Amino acid sequence: VATIDLDLTPTKPGRRVIVKWRGRPVLIVHRTEALIVQARADDAKPDLIEPALDSTRVHLPEWLVVVGVCTHLGCIPLDQSDGDPRGPFGSWFCSCHGSIYDSAIRFPRQPRGTDWLTHQNG
Ligand code: FES
Repeated sequence: VATIDLDLTPTKPGRRVIVKWRGRPVLIVHRTEALIVQARADDAKPDLIEPALDSTRVHLPEWLVVVGVCTHLGCIPLDQSDGDPRGPFGSWFCSCHGSIYDSAIRFPRQPRGTDWLTHQNG
């Protein structure tokens, strides 16, 4: 098992850090209270694959740590939460082919025939 030591002490809420682990980008987000509230609200939506803040798996909700590789073909999603969020769950966006992820970097199931970018932008 490969491990990495990282001092996140100076990382304030709202900051994002990307580190390389085993050749892959790992996205670390120090969630603000607003991001925690948003993730809990998204958990109530039926289209998400799994809950972001399931208490059996998540013991420190202020930290999100995920391998940052798009589930489509492996690009690195970009954080859109401070700019132009896309789609009903839009927070992270993969610019390679347009996949969108929620604030916990989950890929919501997309109803057949739905174009969330079109849906979002009318
Ligand atoms: Fe991300 Fe295709 S690699 S949408």
